[in-house]
Amino acid sequence: MAGDDGQACVTLLEAQNLAPQEFRHNPDAGKLINELLRRGRTGAEQRLRDLATRTAVAEWGDSVVDVAGKRVLYVIACGGRPAGDLAPFIARCQESGWDVCMIATPSALKFMNTSALAAQTGHPVRSDYKQPDEPDVLPAADAMVIAPATFNTINKLAYGSSDTLALGLLNEAIGLGLPIIAVPTANTALARHPAFLEAVIRLRSWGVTILLDPDLYPLPAPNQGPTAADLFPWEALHSAVADLAGQHG
Ligand SMILES: Cc1cc2nc3c(=O)[nH]c(=O)nc-3n(C[C@H](O)[C@H](O)[C@H](O)COP(=O)(O)O)c2cc1C
Repeated sequence: MAGDDGQACVTLLEAQNLAPQEFRHNPDAGKLINELLRRGRTGAEQRLRDLATRTAVAEWGDSVVDVAGKRVLYVIACGGRPAGDLAPFIARCQESGWDVCMIATPSALKFMNTSALAAQTGHPVRSDYKQPDEPDVLPAADAMVIAPATFNTINKLAYGSSDTLALGLLNEAIGLGLPIIAVPTANTALARHPAFLEAVIRLRSWGVTILLDPDLYPLPAPNQGPTAADLFPWEALHSAVADLAGQHG
């Protein structure tokens, strides 16, 4: 790296390391990255492209388009039938201006069409931790939704387990104070389990919004089968995401 462009590149990389939250979506940083990539004189173009990905400056083929200002919503799906019904919800979030990224637990994958969701969101669907030297492929999140949230993931999240990528991202989000909305899909038996009830109380005390109220959103019976997915409260979830946009927009 040499000259003014090289120095600008070093400054950008240092700034991102020092203050990643402030750096993401920063329109000035996005413009500078675009300009440096256009001129191609830094000798560190790949690192700049990685930086563009981390800062919500989307890459399209050989060119880089600044999407600064779009807020990023991670939609995290766990292993329940509603994971197969995410596409219309994602479309509505996109219409409301969110850049949506999909994350799945390994158990969720069997319910989902990941290639269709990747095409819809413009981002790969991630379900496992990256390799040590790989760059992050998703822009940093502004908010997260867990839909559906299984009994298993709710219980593990309440006690800090990080054995799936989904949980790792959610634990970081709790640490960062990002808004999280979870929609449990536990059946009526699991929803009475003391560990689950304690987990819900614990998560709510940390500021996680949990849409769980059997009077308003009835839960499926054990072994209900495919009709269980019909009970999932997509409309309530959409309203909660809209409230989020109002509060934080
Ligand atoms: C067809 C099918 C439907 C399931 N539905 C649910 C469900 O609605 N809620 C739930 O908590 N678990 C459900 N499970 C069980 C979870 O997939 C299982 O507990 C899994 O370990 C959850 O992993 P995850 O929390 O990492 O996604 C279902 C499993 C299958 C095979």
